[in-house]
Amino acid sequence: MLRMTGIGKSFLGVRVLGGVDLEVSAGEVHAVVGENGAGKSTLMKILAGVHAPDEGTIEIDGRSVTFGHPIEAQRAGVAIIYQELTLLPERTVAENVFLGREPVRRGLVDRAAMESATDELLKSLGEESFGPRDLVRRLSVARQQVVEIAKALSLNARIVVMDEPTAPLADHEVELLYTLVRRLTARGIAVLYVSHRLREIFDLADRITVLKDGARVTTAEASSLDTAGLVRLMVGRELDSYYPPRAAGPPGEVILSVRGGGNARLHDIDLDLRAGEIVGVAGLQGSGRTELAKALFGAEPFTSGEMTPRRPRSVREGIAAGIGLVTEDRKAEGLLPNQRVRDNALLVARATGAPRTGVERLLERVRLSPPRPAQEVRLLSGGNQQKVVLAKWMTVAPRVLLFDEPTRGVDVGAKAAIHDLMRELARDGMAVLMISSELPELIGMSDRIVVLRDGRLVGELPAGSTEEAVMRLAAAS
Ligand SMILES: Nc1ncnc2c1ncn2[C@@H]1O[C@H](COP(=O)(O)OP(=O)(O)OP(=O)(O)O)[C@@H](O)[C@H]1O
Ligand SMILES: [Mg+2]
Repeated sequence: MLRMTGIGKSFLGVRVLGGVDLEVSAGEVHAVVGENGAGKSTLMKILAGVHAPDEGTIEIDGRSVTFGHPIEAQRAGVAIIYQELTLLPERTVAENVFLGREPVRRGLVDRAAMESATDELLKSLGEESFGPRDLVRRLSVARQQVVEIAKALSLNARIVVMDEPTAPLADHEVELLYTLVRRLTARGIAVLYVSHRLREIFDLADRITVLKDGARVTTAEASSLDTAGLVRLMVGRELDSYYPPRAAGPPGEVILSVRGGGNARLHDIDLDLRAGEIVGVAGLQGSGRTELAKALFGAEPFTSGEMTPRRPRSVREGIAAGIGLVTEDRKAEGLLPNQRVRDNALLVARATGAPRTGVERLLERVRLSPPRPAQEVRLLSGGNQQKVVLAKWMTVAPRVLLFDEPTRGVDVGAKAAIHDLMRELARDGMAVLMISSELPELIGMSDRIVVLRDGRLVGELPAGSTEEAVMRLAAAS
């Protein structure tokens, strides 16, 4: 159905894709994988008419096409679901599906036609939890994706591109997306699926194309590969074990302690964090995980309860108490993208008056690669950006570091580096708290896991618990 041949692309003289071939069949889930910066998104954007290739051809159903604009790709049957959703939150589902091409009857927008067509599309996707008249802003991210896909179907999309679609989803919502993908392929639609989560790749993909440094390494049947083999193709070397070994001995002294912590979103939080341990936080979307990290840090403080060190009422107090937070949204909250690596790494030191020497050494320690302190942060891959955030905190040597989805959108190699660092920091006596929606990661990294539900800690599980055990606690009602 789709054949891309010899695709090449440079940005500002830097070649990011060269001679890439990609063939996709009707009804196939074709995964595109590779490290950060391998060129996956660029290739997908070329297919979607966002970027024009410098060289190469695209054929759909054997006919050569060129896209000067995303609209042209859309007309040719290509839909792309971006990670940042592009819907209008204050409009209804039906209005979004038909945005810019509303059916008109006697000079007026035919709302009834729009709504019934949307209703049919949603039903065909098995979606019954919301309807055409619901406001988009009331829908979860997972349901907004359903709207995006309904929109793609209404445009007769035959190739649907999903670029890291599960990054904003909570674990239990991933199943919803799987169902959706299967419904699309059952209609003969080809799905191009970009993700860093290998589990999803093996769950969904028929074939896998591996990109490395802008070139295709291989395209293979998913059934002919295993995780280790795929990682080797992506990274170009063996990654022997996924997660660093856990703490050898028992944890040290309690560094942070909360009793009866509460605010508008959290209730009766009792939690101790000890030197040397990594405590995982599990919970469904909306269970209060990010709120817990922000309360401990002082960004959205606890308004009741006892805490040692003294309950921070602001970020400033949190930092002064030796607490750091690696936020979920590093671009918006953790970094100044237009500034250089070095200046970003010094953000916390500058704000607190901590010494600014040794930042180069810290950037080495976090394994920034390539180590270019003068580069603008926005030009770095997700993994490298996260390493800069880590360096930023390490300048003030916090005693407690809270990580909210630390490896979201980060490739396998950088992910392993970040995991190793987290364990190193714990080994050096820090107390580490880690939130992750990726259960294998949470289980692989944590010395114990606490589970949040509706703003309350509802249980604790030891290292090595099963995903089922975690989910059972997180979802029980
Ligand atoms: N608009 C742009 N201008 C300049 N350089 C760009 C632009 N878009 C991408 N790049 C560069 O092209 C390379 C490939 O980027 P791309 O986003 O395609 O990688 P990716 O495989 O999708 O990575 P990730 O896994 O981090 O999403 C990177 O080095 C990136 O910095
Ligand atoms: Mg990308």
